[in-house]
Amino acid sequence: MGEIKRIGILTSGGDCSGLNVAISGVVRAATAKGWEVYGIHDGTEGLTKEKLSYEVLTLRNFSDTPWAKTAGSYLGSLNKGVNPDLMDETAQRFGNGVRALKLDAVIVLGGDGSMSVLQYYCEKADIKMIGIPKTIDNDTPLTDLSIGFRTACQVCMEAIDNIETTARSHHRAMIVEVMGRDAGHLALQSAIAGYADVCLIPEIPYTLDGIINKLEQVKATGRSHAVIVVSEGIKTEKGEILSSAKNMVGEKVHGGIGEYLTNLLNNNYTGFQIRSTRLGHTQRSGHPIFSDRILASVFAAKAVELLAEGHTNVMVGLTNGQLVAHPLKEVVAAGTSTVQLTNPYIKAAQILGMYIGEI
Ligand code: F6P
Repeated sequence: MGEIKRIGILTSGGDCSGLNVAISGVVRAATAKGWEVYGIHDGTEGLTKEKLSYEVLTLRNFSDTPWAKTAGSYLGSLNKGVNPDLMDETAQRFGNGVRALKLDAVIVLGGDGSMSVLQYYCEKADIKMIGIPKTIDNDTPLTDLSIGFRTACQVCMEAIDNIETTARSHHRAMIVEVMGRDAGHLALQSAIAGYADVCLIPEIPYTLDGIINKLEQVKATGRSHAVIVVSEGIKTEKGEILSSAKNMVGEKVHGGIGEYLTNLLNNNYTGFQIRSTRLGHTQRSGHPIFSDRILASVFAAKAVELLAEGHTNVMVGLTNGQLVAHPLKEVVAAGTSTVQLTNPYIKAAQILGMYIGEI
């Protein structure tokens, strides 16, 4: 591989907290090596639109404003889905954009979907890429953690704590619907940290009777309120995943199961009044907590180090406390990392007395 002089960086997919920490980390590490960094606007769009959209990022970008420590993506990100029929055409445009800007490699901050799409574009267009995993869903494979997950857990845990106060005042059972798409990591970990009574995740089937039994157990202990955490990707009793929106290529975005279960429970059970709250996109916008700032910083440093050593087409990851680099093809082949039944958090939730479905 030739010597690196200029790299691009972009954020792709749903935003999360810690992206700006990673962007600033890449700029700091790359600048120290004498490289130029081009920040690409709005995910791949900045390179695929007719008029390229980007800005040169330097250390000055971080001296005047505190944006590097805030949530969101300074560069902009897109979560609009991808039309499979346009993949090859877009790959070509992407490659042309990279070459027009004379970028020697591109660092991509993305989740499982973006890694797969960008790996395809980069392979097709012969572009060198390093992936950095980020998503509140924590479903990027081959890494124990993705940037943004723990801050989202913090947001959910604090919401659960807050909701519990009103649940207690009104002797209610409150349902809290959290994101996560088809993976239950966010629901499971925030439910444990928030001392929820029930946690339902897409990976484990549940029954209405199971929820009601748990609520009755809560009452039997003398407590007159309860908290139920549900992941947006769980199914109704008819096996349907609910959605309340579509992305720009027509794919459904999950959401609405909390409200649905509230009606079902209120119609079938009078032991508690039930209400529900959907946390929605607030989960993507908490101020980055320590563990995300350190993760984003070390991932950024590792990505630049890998490029400097001549490695490309890999994703950085964290496995058993070690920073690792996995070939992007292996990451894509591994698919989505959902909650395995051997996950120690499941056992812990059960031991703590939570109803987590029928296992
Ligand atoms: O993948 C991140 C995520 O926040 C999911 O948890 C959620 O289902 C989805 O994105 C929401 O997407 P949008 O930003 O299109 O509403």
